[in-house]
Amino acid sequence: MAKMEVKTSLLDNMIGVGDMVLLEPLNEETFINNLKKRFDHNEIYTYIGSVVISVNPYRSLPIYSPEKVEDYRNRNFYELSPHIFALSDEAYRSLRDQDKDQCILITGESGAGKTEASKLVMSYVAAVCGKGAEVNQVKEQLLQSNPVLEAFGNAKTVRNDNSSRFGKYMDIEFDFKGDPLGGVISNYLLEKSRVVKQPRGERNFHVFYQLLSGASEELLNKLKLERDFSRYNYLSLDSARVNGIDDAANFRTVRNAMQIVGFMDHEAESVLEVVAAVLKLGNIEFKPESRVNGLDESKIKDKNELKEICELTGIDQSVLERAFSFRTVEAKQEKVSTTLNVAQAYYARDALAKNLYSRLFSWLVNRINESIKAQTKVRKKVMGVLDIYGFEIFEDNSFEQFIINYCNEKLQQIFIELTLKEEQEEYIREDIEWTHIEYFNNAIICDLIENNTNGILAMLDEECLRPGTVTDETFLEKLNQVCATHQHFESRMSKCSRFLNDTSLPHSCFRIQHYAGKVLYQVEGFVDKNNDLLYRDLSQAMWKASHTLIKSLFPEGNPAKINLKRPPTAGSQFKASVATLMKNLQTKNPNYIRCIKPNDKKAAHIFNESLVCHQIRYLGLLENVRVRRAGYAFRQAYEPCLERYKMLCKQTWPHWKGPARSGVEVLFNELEIPVDEYSFGRSKIFIRNPRTLFKLEDLRKQRLEDLATLIQKIYRGWKCRTHFLLMKKSQIVIAAWYRRFAQQKKYQQTKSSALVIQSYIRGWKARKILRELKHQKRCKEAATTIAAYWHGTQARRELKRLKEEARRKHAVAVIWAYWLGLKVRREYRKFFRANAGKKIYEFTLQRIIQKYFLEMKNKMPSLSPIDKNWPSRPYLFLDSTHKELKRIFHLWRCKKYRDQFTDQQKLIYEEKLEASELFKDKKALYPSSVGQPFQGAYLEINKNPKYKKLKDAIEEKIIIAEVVNKINRANGKSTSRIFLLTNNNLLLADQKSGQIKSEVPLVDVTKVSMSSQNDGFFAVHLKEGSEAASKGDFLFSSDHLIEMATKLYRTTLSQTKQKLNIEISDEFLVQFRQDKVCVKFIQGNQKNGSVPTCKRKNNRLLEVAVP
Ligand SMILES: Nc1ncnc2c1ncn2[C@@H]1O[C@H](COP(=O)(O)OP(=O)(O)O)[C@@H](O)[C@H]1O
Ligand SMILES: [Mg+2]
Repeated sequence: MAKMEVKTSLLDNMIGVGDMVLLEPLNEETFINNLKKRFDHNEIYTYIGSVVISVNPYRSLPIYSPEKVEDYRNRNFYELSPHIFALSDEAYRSLRDQDKDQCILITGESGAGKTEASKLVMSYVAAVCGKGAEVNQVKEQLLQSNPVLEAFGNAKTVRNDNSSRFGKYMDIEFDFKGDPLGGVISNYLLEKSRVVKQPRGERNFHVFYQLLSGASEELLNKLKLERDFSRYNYLSLDSARVNGIDDAANFRTVRNAMQIVGFMDHEAESVLEVVAAVLKLGNIEFKPESRVNGLDESKIKDKNELKEICELTGIDQSVLERAFSFRTVEAKQEKVSTTLNVAQAYYARDALAKNLYSRLFSWLVNRINESIKAQTKVRKKVMGVLDIYGFEIFEDNSFEQFIINYCNEKLQQIFIELTLKEEQEEYIREDIEWTHIEYFNNAIICDLIENNTNGILAMLDEECLRPGTVTDETFLEKLNQVCATHQHFESRMSKCSRFLNDTSLPHSCFRIQHYAGKVLYQVEGFVDKNNDLLYRDLSQAMWKASHTLIKSLFPEGNPAKINLKRPPTAGSQFKASVATLMKNLQTKNPNYIRCIKPNDKKAAHIFNESLVCHQIRYLGLLENVRVRRAGYAFRQAYEPCLERYKMLCKQTWPHWKGPARSGVEVLFNELEIPVDEYSFGRSKIFIRNPRTLFKLEDLRKQRLEDLATLIQKIYRGWKCRTHFLLMKKSQIVIAAWYRRFAQQKKYQQTKSSALVIQSYIRGWKARKILRELKHQKRCKEAATTIAAYWHGTQARRELKRLKEEARRKHAVAVIWAYWLGLKVRREYRKFFRANAGKKIYEFTLQRIIQKYFLEMKNKMPSLSPIDKNWPSRPYLFLDSTHKELKRIFHLWRCKKYRDQFTDQQKLIYEEKLEASELFKDKKALYPSSVGQPFQGAYLEINKNPKYKKLKDAIEEKIIIAEVVNKINRANGKSTSRIFLLTNNNLLLADQKSGQIKSEVPLVDVTKVSMSSQNDGFFAVHLKEGSEAASKGDFLFSSDHLIEMATKLYRTTLSQTKQKLNIEISDEFLVQFRQDKVCVKFIQGNQKNGSVPTCKRKNNRLLEVAVP
């Protein structure tokens, strides 16, 4: 089923009237009230015919969502409530479907919402036109050109925080399908004076603040900038930060937008370098310097800034410095150089900054155009969007305001022309008679400004070109002469006496009555700004820059292309470009958006009636409505008109078969509308008075209510009837079902009763038969039981007899077996022996032992005495044998081992054994001696000639010859002595000379004492009263104590057959001459190394410290 389309109209749910043409009565008050009422209900758009009035809401409204775009898409202009989207849609469809180039003209004061409106139009068109990757890129580039241009061309003013300081006209180009191909942007007169100076409460262009707030430290360093705004003379400080504007975030947006639009990274960087250079130019300051010839000269105060600018731009510092101090004038072949005074130098600096910036801006526009230009040469359809600066009245109005307001005059002019023309054309098209209407035509003001012979701009140019001294005052004088009689020109000094006493008009000003109000212009600066003079030296210096962008901005600086002709003045340039624009606009189908500013506070919800009234007046909106209504207030094509009102007449309701026009005729006749109230055009009905329309609307409403009641009545009747029929049908169904159910139940009851009776009878019968059967069965059972008892008795008797028989047979067999056994034993006893078991046992045991030894033979461990291996024991009862065997084996292999020794080795081992018996576990020194072989004669006396005498003196065999330390009895110090042991004697000799010092026969040695510790001290005790004992006992220390003591012991034993007493104790007494001295071993500290030290403490004590 096709979806029912709901026809809506502008006239539905209107707040006030959506189209001012319908206002009744029409006057200023009702007009404003209507706007206010709508504004209070968030309806910021209102129509005057096809013109859209937009009141700035100063807050975001939820009326631009994608859903809204869908609502307005492909709908007729009057179908929905007024909206900027309706106008955009109308323009776009007219472009796409009827091949008409469009222009959208947005006018209004500064801050009225023009720029926002232009963006809304663009975004709407972008949303509804073709889709696809390529198209989307074009769209994105077109939309992203806005943030770039706004950063460089917009600034905060007292009227608007984001005021466009340039005029912008953008042509969007489409192909035949309505897909966007690209665009062209034209810019008009950037307000460049803002670069060097800003009025109170205003800012410089956004980009400066964005750069300083948003750039990374790295970028700032590269551009030689500091983040602090106050460092730059060109940035006004009083409103550097604006509420609701995030400069840093915007900087990122702009960089991003530049990328999308297609700026290369190096291009974007160059642009920022130029911006930085402009900022830094403002910091160059000059001081006066007088020269001898009396000419004034200026000098740069601090050259640092200049140096940095030159580094940034790649200009030779001396070239730029010279350009700031000299001016060269060339005429024909002559070249004259004059010095600049301080004021001129400042002028030159500012001129350079302004030119640099404005040329950069134009370059940006061209660069963007390059990116967004259509790539094909096919014929294009064009939609132009004009967002030009609004009419401006400031406290101080200068050349810029003059130019801006002139531009607005021209736009008003074109508005008047086009709306009236359009209206007239429609009447002609529709074949309707046209009546003239009065309105204010501002052509006269345009003429005052632009007239080629005596217009203000022409005067200004004339002044600028005139030889001789030219000042702003001479210009004003000229104006006073030429324009005095003009109705819209006012000046105190003009010959016209009207203003001689007007104190509101200062002498240095002139006033123009613009269509939008009177504006007082300060004449100061007009000449300079119109001349827009940049000294040639500066442009040449700029051309010499190695920075390619800057170089390209100053082509006139190229000495090869020197042009002595004056460039066109700013005024004439602007006039020419405005004229081209107007021509361009006239070829297109115009769509108007007239922006109105509801208050001066940039605040939401405030509707200042007097302010709005003023704008309505100068925008000529009332006249606009009047013109629109002069003939007929309302017009509508026949089809929608018939569709809307057909219910008012029986013939046309519900369907009219025939052409719509005759239907409308019939309808209007039937309604008896006076004939002069309407007129039939070719395709539209024209209604003269809104009253008639409202009457129609009222009737329609009434009729709609009646129709609604009718529909309601019929519907209710239908609903009741259908309900009743349904109930009736249901009742029959229910009754049928119930009857069936009841019958079913009755039948079931009868059936079950029959079954019960039947079952009772059957039961009774069955029981009777059962009784009989049971009786028969019992009789049979009784007979069987009796038979069984009888058989049982017989069987038991038989069993008893058989058992008796079997027992007897068994007894016979047993007795027979015993008898047989007895007989056999008696016969065989003589064959058995008594000791057979013992023999078997012994035999077995022998076998086991034999096996054990045979196995052991194979498992024998090695012959090494230190081998601890021994096979495990195989039988527990052989445990002691096994252990014994192990011991015997070990002893045997030890013997084997010893048998290998020579006699000498045997001796050594004997000595070692002896030493072990004497000292093991008694003296701590012992373990370290085990590894040392006992050599005895360490000192080879035979071989050393030094000891020849000593050798000769001894005849016996030398057992020990070794150097020992003899401890001095008196002080504990030691001296080296040769210690000699022979078979019978112990000798001490001088180490150097070999002379014998003492000789002790071994029989006189009674005892040897030593400590239990790890030291080599030992005392040799002598027999009391012997000859050798006269000096007392000896105390030695030796590295081979164990060996010496052992050998002394063995020798003494073999010679004297007495065991030498060896005392091991940490404290023992020695006899020194007459005294008994105690030798005491103590634990010493490590301080003296690992050598034990010996010290005589007193008469009775000698202390040895062992580490
Ligand atoms: N349709 C709108 N919805 C919300 N705010 C708006 C709208 N139009 C304008 N504004 C607000 O008004 C301010 C000024 O508008 P703008 O278009 O820059 O003025 P103009 O270009 O006419 O000087 C904007 O910054 C915005 O805050
Ligand atoms: Mg703007």
